[in-house]
Amino acid sequence: MYITLEGIDGSGKSTQIQMLAEWLRTNGFSVKVLKEPTDSLVGDLIRKMLRNPSAIQVNFQKSLALLFAADRTLLIEKIMEEEESDRIVLSDRSFYSSLAYQEGEEWITQVNKYAREPDLVILLDLETETALKRCEGKDRFEKKDFLNKIRNKYLALADKHGFMVVNANSGINKVHADIKKIVAPKIGICF
Ligand code: TYD
Repeated sequence: MYITLEGIDGSGKSTQIQMLAEWLRTNGFSVKVLKEPTDSLVGDLIRKMLRNPSAIQVNFQKSLALLFAADRTLLIEKIMEEEESDRIVLSDRSFYSSLAYQEGEEWITQVNKYAREPDLVILLDLETETALKRCEGKDRFEKKDFLNKIRNKYLALADKHGFMVVNANSGINKVHADIKKIVAPKIGICF
């Protein structure tokens, strides 16, 4: 099973993914946590490029979209191997981050043709203002208008692709409980 958490910067994905992994392990499951961008050379390049203040410009975004797709391609086999070893794969972001952040749905879909479709997508949704406050000091896509647009794209994608949407502003433990409630029936355990 390949489960991914999606959401704008500051939505709490990394905290929630660790809590979810811990809960699954306590319940006897083997879990592998992944993150996009990955720690590959392509991922390093992406992180370097994201530090450039021009990162939100259209051409820069097109170039990033290709790099995100390349980085993700390196994950295909890894996800397959983990699943073959009966591990639940939890991923902080997926192909859907590219659909939300980069422009051009058709093109993004094409260049990500080989990416693995997650079995479950959980969207952590919250007000852009709140997310921005949590990211203070970081300097990537933290322009309010930009993140607002991404949030709305995520909500539209959620509608279209049937993501499970969780209110990410209800406190760490409540968010965790909401996520457990979604995951439990998928893996056949009680919550
Ligand atoms: P993020 O998970 O926010 O990194 P960190 O935990 O280090 O803050 O990811 C880095 C940025 O990359 C984030 O702003 C979202 C962006 N991103 C895309 O624009 N497209 C993609 O396909 C992916 C995977 C990430």
